[in-house]
Amino acid sequence: MSLIQLIYVSTATTELEESELDAILESSARHNTPQDVTGMLLYSGGTFMQVLEGEEAAVDETYQRICADPRHHSSFLLTRDPIKERNFAVWSMGFRRLNESDATAKPSFAPFFQDGFDARTIGTQPGIALDLLLEFSQRWNFK
Ligand SMILES: Cc1cc2nc3c(=O)[nH]c(=O)nc-3n(C[C@H](O)[C@H](O)[C@H](O)COP(=O)(O)O)c2cc1C
Repeated sequence: MSLIQLIYVSTATTELEESELDAILESSARHNTPQDVTGMLLYSGGTFMQVLEGEEAAVDETYQRICADPRHHSSFLLTRDPIKERNFAVWSMGFRRLNESDATAKPSFAPFFQDGFDARTIGTQPGIALDLLLEFSQRWNFK
């Protein structure tokens, strides 16, 4: 058993409708549950941040499939680390759409997401991606 946690950011090809996000979450749940992959997906200003957790092979296979998805591009891998236990064990894929009220409510996090996730800004602060994901997993929808 070797668990890993992988976090990336990417850019949606077009601004996605609610129904398109639902379709992504539906297929995420369908694939992740049998593979015991868990995580959280954030959507902000046409960009994604996602954390995937699980067995190394399952997470790598899932990430490769996600990277090939034409609904987004410019995937940037922020972290891929061994973990002892999961931070997002309960969700096959939790989901939150971040908006202006989130930026107002969380001014210390706002620079990292209010204009969409920016890999370069986020990359300069180790740990900030996980902190953001944990912060916004407090209030969530899940599939
Ligand atoms: C931002 C984003 C996140 C995604 N997350 C997952 C995921 O966690 N697990 C997964 O299996 N597919 C995920 N997908 C969908 C995959 O890229 C792919 O479309 C899907 O797994 C294909 O399965 P299907 O054709 O059976 O629906 C994601 C897609 C996008 C755009």
